[in-house]
This record gives sequence, structure tokens and C-alpha cells, in this order.
Amino acid sequence: MKIAVAGTGYVGLSVATLLSQHHDVTAVDIIPEKVALINRRVSPVKDSYIEKYFREKPLKLKATLDAAAAYRDSDFVIIAAPTNYDDEKNFFDTSAVETVISLVLENAPDAVIVIKSTVPVGYTEQVRQKFHTKKILFSPEFLRESKALYDNLYPSRIIIGADMQEEGNASAARKLAGLLQEGAVKEDIDTLFMKPTEAEAVKLFANTYLALRVSFFNELDTYAMVRELNTEEIIRGVCMDPRIGNFYNNPSFGYGGYCLPKDTKQLLANFENIPNNLIQAIVDSNRTRKDFIADQIIARNPKTVGVYRLTMKSNSDNFRSSSIQGIMKRIKAKGIPVIVYEPALQEPEFFRSEVVRDLQEFKDRSSVVIANRMSSELEDIKEKVFTRDLFQND
Ligand SMILES: NC(=O)c1ccc[n+]([C@@H]2O[C@H](COP(=O)([O-])OP(=O)(O)OC[C@H]3O[C@@H](n4cnc5c(N)ncnc54)[C@H](O)[C@@H]3O)[C@@H](O)[C@H]2O)c1
Repeated sequence: MKIAVAGTGYVGLSVATLLSQHHDVTAVDIIPEKVALINRRVSPVKDSYIEKYFREKPLKLKATLDAAAAYRDSDFVIIAAPTNYDDEKNFFDTSAVETVISLVLENAPDAVIVIKSTVPVGYTEQVRQKFHTKKILFSPEFLRESKALYDNLYPSRIIIGADMQEEGNASAARKLAGLLQEGAVKEDIDTLFMKPTEAEAVKLFANTYLALRVSFFNELDTYAMVRELNTEEIIRGVCMDPRIGNFYNNPSFGYGGYCLPKDTKQLLANFENIPNNLIQAIVDSNRTRKDFIADQIIARNPKTVGVYRLTMKSNSDNFRSSSIQGIMKRIKAKGIPVIVYEPALQEPEFFRSEVVRDLQEFKDRSSVVIANRMSSELEDIKEKVFTRDLFQND
């Protein structure tokens, strides 16, 4: 089987690695540095399993900037291009996905196109009509960043959005499911087939549920802080009910990362003219939480606030849309100087705040250090640290 993957971010690179164990895979990107790194078997993203597979497995994987050549003769083209939220249009910007679809239809009219990017509910049906083809499937991706390949090797489920009544679609959907199962280590993976629109809804409702859970425990924490109660004791007590469960309940500065903020906003946009309170509240709750956290820090009258890591999670090098950046903005808006400690950053400044490379200097110069996730590196200045990381897990 010949497979092309468009986009080599977390999604594209992990899927390309997974499938290249058994098939010829060409990964396409528009960034030359990424292509060069992949061809040298260096992962452009921090991900222990991708790094391990690059080192140890004989993968049939190559990367290229030449999209047209990669799509030509492909049996499947998997799209993992970005779909950022456009705040002006109040919808995902799906232009990169459509650029790929056009190129594939020009160069490989018989290829099956699989959208793995997260898209608005109803999107696949729209592009099928726009491009006059039924050969576009949607398969939501559920990976976590920094565990990207692991989550494809041991997937919670595989979901394929296709028209199972239509022979061509049904056989393409079964082949795709077979490819994803074949690359995985886990056996007997729950695999669901449904229409593309339902599959799109699964993705957005799943991420919105995760955001709801984060927001719930964050609001519990806000309540406990205002009332001077012990958040830890309350959460432990609440979560012993097996219907609630003692997991994914660690307070933070807000939900963040590339997906949860944008996917909740997109679901809310899809709810236009449909009665709801909760979906709106999940989006609003994150803003309220960040306002509250920033107010707590400002109330300490710090001379300089030190931001310890821009990342969401402790083992990550990725800080796209991390919640601590929202806190930073609010503190700076009050005229309080902010310095940043972030080893993953090469630049001397981050949004006009100085990046301090030396940890000791950073500690000495900060009157309050804010950390979305606590670290043993900060133990010696514990009394200066503001964090809501109560359970030391992500
Ligand atoms: N990151 C996650 O945890 C995650 C999880 C599930 C789903 N998703 C979704 O998957 C999609 C990709 O996410 P990501 O985190 O991998 O994104 P990313 O931004 O890390 O990577 C996207 C890559 O696509 C490349 N690209 C842009 N336009 C292109 C084009 N026309 N042709 C080829 N490559 C192109 C970019 O240069 C970039 O390297 C998004 O829709 C996202 O919402 C992400």
C-alpha cells in the first residue's frame, strides 16, 4: 500500500510512523527543516515513542516538500494539517485541509482521502459536495501530545466516518481500519464505523467533555480558595465515588494546549441556534478561572513575576495556547514586569518579556514564581511559588 501523510505535526508524524512499519509512507510538509529532520530520523517533536521507533525500527518512511509527487500513485492520503480557530470568523480555518484536498484530486484522483485534522461538525459532507467526490473519509485523532505515537500504538478506540451503505466508501473504511489496527501493538481495538458528521461530533464532544472536567475541578478549587477550604481534601473525597473517579482532577491555571481551547469554541459555534447552557459555560469558565488566578497573583503585589515554564504539562516542550500565557498577559496588563524561564525557548524574549536562561538568576530576580505544574527544581524557593498543582500529575 502507498500512503501519503500531509502535515508532520503530532498527528501526522505519529500516524506516518505507525503506518510506515508495514507500508511505504511519504510524509509531506511545507517546512524544509522538519522534512530534513525526519529524513535524518530525528523527531521534530518531543515524543519518546517516535524517538524510539526512529532509532530502532526499520521504517519505510520518507519525508518531502514535493506534495504533488507524494500524492501521485498514493492509495491513501491522510490529512493532518492544522485547523486553527479563526476568532474573526468564529470557526476553524480549514484552508490548509482544502489545499491538500485540491492537490490530491489533481494528482491522484483515485486515492482515498482521510481527514485526521479536527474539523467542524458537517465539514466532511461539505467538502465532499464542494469537490464532487465521495472519497473523503473522516477519522478523528485522540492522541495526547508527547504521547502521540504511544496513543496510536495503544488507541482507546478507532473511529472511521464513512458511508457504510455505499460500497466504495465501506471498503475504503474497512481498509483504513485495518491499516490503523495493523500498526498498533494493542489487540482487539474497539473500532466504530459511523457517518463522517457523527465522527466529527465525537471528536468535538470528547474534547469538550475533557475541558468540562478540567473546568469543574478548577471551579471547585476557586471556591475552596475563596472560602479558605482545603481543595485537596475535597477533591479526594469527591473522587472516591467510582462514578466520578480519582483521575484527571488536578487543578490548574485553566485548560489549554492546542486542542481544548479551539475545539470547545468550535463546538459552541456549531451549537448556534441550538439550546445550550453548558457548552457556553465551558468556554466562559476558562476565562473566569484565568481572571481569578491572575487576581490572586496580583494581590501579592509582586515587583517581578517569574513564569516557570510556558508548557501545560511537566514532560512537554510544547506551549501552544498554554493557560499560563493567559495569566502572563493579565499580569502584564497591570504593568507588572514578567520574566520567563523556559528551556525550550531559544529566543531572548517571549512577547516582550525577558527570557532568563539561568535558573538561579530567574529565582533570585522573581518575587513570585508562577508554575502551572510544580517541579522539584523549585523546592528551594517553595514559599515564593504560586501553583495550583496539588497532586503533581498532569
Ligand atoms: N496535537 C494534538 O494533540 C491533536 C490531537 C488530535 C487532533 N489534532 C488535530 O490534528 C490537526 C493537526 O494537529 P497537529 O498538532 O499535528 O498540528 P501541527 O501544527 O503540529 O502540525 C501541522 C503540520 O502541517 C503542516 N502543514 C500546513 N499546511 C500544510 C500543507 N498544505 N501541506 C502539508 N503540510 C502542511 C505544518 O507545517 C505543520 O508541520 C489539527 O486539526 C488538530 O486539531 C491535534
